[in-house]
Amino acid sequence: MATVLKTASVPGLGKVQAGEIEVSSVSKSYGVQQFAKDVVKDCSFTVQRHKLTVMIGPSGCGKSTLIRLMAGFERPTSGTITIDGKQVVGPSHDRLVVFQETALFPWMTTYENIMYGPKARGEDTPKTREFAEFLLDKVGLTQFRDKYPNQLSGGMQRRAELARAMINNPSVMLLDEPFRGLDAMTKELMWEYYAALFEETRRTNFFVTTDIDEAIFLADRLLIMTNIPTRVRAVLEVNIPRPRKLKDLVEDDRANDVKMEALSLLHEEAMKSFAGGSKAAADFVEAYSRRIAKR
Ligand SMILES: Nc1ncnc2c1ncn2[C@@H]1O[C@H](COP(=O)(O)OP(=O)(O)OP(=O)(O)O)[C@@H](O)[C@H]1O
Ligand SMILES: [Mg+2]
Repeated sequence: MATVLKTASVPGLGKVQAGEIEVSSVSKSYGVQQFAKDVVKDCSFTVQRHKLTVMIGPSGCGKSTLIRLMAGFERPTSGTITIDGKQVVGPSHDRLVVFQETALFPWMTTYENIMYGPKARGEDTPKTREFAEFLLDKVGLTQFRDKYPNQLSGGMQRRAELARAMINNPSVMLLDEPFRGLDAMTKELMWEYYAALFEETRRTNFFVTTDIDEAIFLADRLLIMTNIPTRVRAVLEVNIPRPRKLKDLVEDDRANDVKMEALSLLHEEAMKSFAGGSKAAADFVEAYSRRIAKR
């Protein structure tokens, strides 16, 4: 039975329940007959209610494909995906996706972009406006509410994007490498903003990344994916109390243990695709070796 957490401190956060997604024996191939390419193969996992589940896997293994399947943009070749027991057959605003590419409308201000979803649904109410103010504050953009996207830095655009998705109260948020391409310092700032938003709302979140530090800092549960065709290689629980601060994590033994275990599994998977001639895998193996050398 679904539970609704007490979120009284969050104005305008409606009674939408956090959802749960079940991916069962899902496979996805592109192309036909001898040209068919298996991208996802017999993949099963649960995105648990109220938890932040992070998926990490070698570059090109099929993570974005899984996001598209969960969002309902594409259908699996076999297997099923359900949200709260109901089969996913298409997109719906109970599952919102935040992509790496910006989806902000360039002709709208930050505030107008955030209010776009509620306005389009005829829900421009005092309660939603209050929620918009809360989100603006939480993502540190109150001073930038009347600026247009091209007047915002890359990090500010990503924060506006998060607020723009969250105001729609999706029962599950799906995020596909939303902070990829930002510089290291901006990225770390983004993790703290995003983690704080998650900690206050406790909606179900599913977050895809290739960055191990991002994964450990954010995750309640970490899904380690195999090389293509992808499936879950291991599930690691990241039992580190919240609220989390980056500086606490650097010294945390549990965080370091999970990181080493995850890196070792990812290294094995990357080696497999390395053997298959993947440039991305070669890059990963090189980065991994540097990381180990630094320890
Ligand atoms: N529509 C499609 N038609 C054919 N092949 C596809 C299609 N979509 C994805 N693929 C292939 O599926 C594989 C996995 O792609 P996907 O984008 O899901 O990986 P990813 O794990 O998200 O990669 P990255 O880490 O680079 O974001 C790639 O080899 C890609 O070429
Ligand atoms: Mg991807």
